[in-house]
Amino acid sequence: MKQHQVEIDTSKCIGCGMCTRVCPAHSIEIKDKKAVTLLDDCLMCGQCTAVCPMRAVSISGYDTGQIEKKEDLRLKPEEVLDVIRFRRSIRQFKQKEIPKEVISQILEAGRLTHTAKNMQDVSFVVLNKEKGRIEQMAVSLFRKIKPFADLFSPMARKNKIDEHFFFFNAPTVIVILARDKTNGILAAQNMEFVAEANGLGVLFSGFFTMAANTSPKIRKAIGIPKGKRAAMTLVLGYPEVKFLRSVQREKLIVKYM
Ligand SMILES: Cc1cc2nc3c(=O)[nH]c(=O)nc-3n(C[C@H](O)[C@H](O)[C@H](O)COP(=O)(O)O)c2cc1C
Repeated sequence: MKQHQVEIDTSKCIGCGMCTRVCPAHSIEIKDKKAVTLLDDCLMCGQCTAVCPMRAVSISGYDTGQIEKKEDLRLKPEEVLDVIRFRRSIRQFKQKEIPKEVISQILEAGRLTHTAKNMQDVSFVVLNKEKGRIEQMAVSLFRKIKPFADLFSPMARKNKIDEHFFFFNAPTVIVILARDKTNGILAAQNMEFVAEANGLGVLFSGFFTMAANTSPKIRKAIGIPKGKRAAMTLVLGYPEVKFLRSVQREKLIVKYM
């Protein structure tokens, strides 16, 4: 038996067909003025449950319910663009803890992020107490491979791998695990937005992500399950620097056809 099932309360269904219109897998039909499910290709995406005007469609097996949308939520486009324009990677952090509620909100942003085929394959490891120990493992690994990297990369030659090379003394680090890397990266971006809205600064650590995927010791220490990988690592804390203006970027490359 499937973990989740789409259920239709035929006493509430008015046969309006909204569920069939939004279903991406064509898994709901209207028969005799009532919705019926054809579950074969159902993604369990829940769009049918969110669009039904009668609350006649639901998905079983979840321990959380649905939240009614009160009004059309729309952010000001120019403000959203400014958030993107002025966000910077932060590598200087205040020695100030992040409240648990804020971490929960950031994780919630990750949990709610859409996934390909509704895989819901993204999970999280929050490093607080273990941060130093885990960072040390990555430092040891990078120090071992540095001589080889130095041969090929001028940037590697310039980089000194000190004790805080990966996490920059930040109070919290979240490693995002996923089966599909893209799903994890999307979660990472949404989490960054929520972190920034809470006054936090964020660094995407590609280096630590690489170390975590390369080293069986780190994989084991942070508990990356078989079939999953570290998709991204967020280094989080209150910024100790304030950027005063935007930075310059290459001009837009776009082709309209
Ligand atoms: C996928 C990804 C991985 C990154 N990995 C690292 C990293 O390991 N260490 C680091 O210092 N910066 C890392 N960065 C930050 C980039 O170097 C930074 O985004 C870029 O220099 C532009 O600066 P800005 O983010 O302030 O606009 C990473 C950024 C991205 C998007």
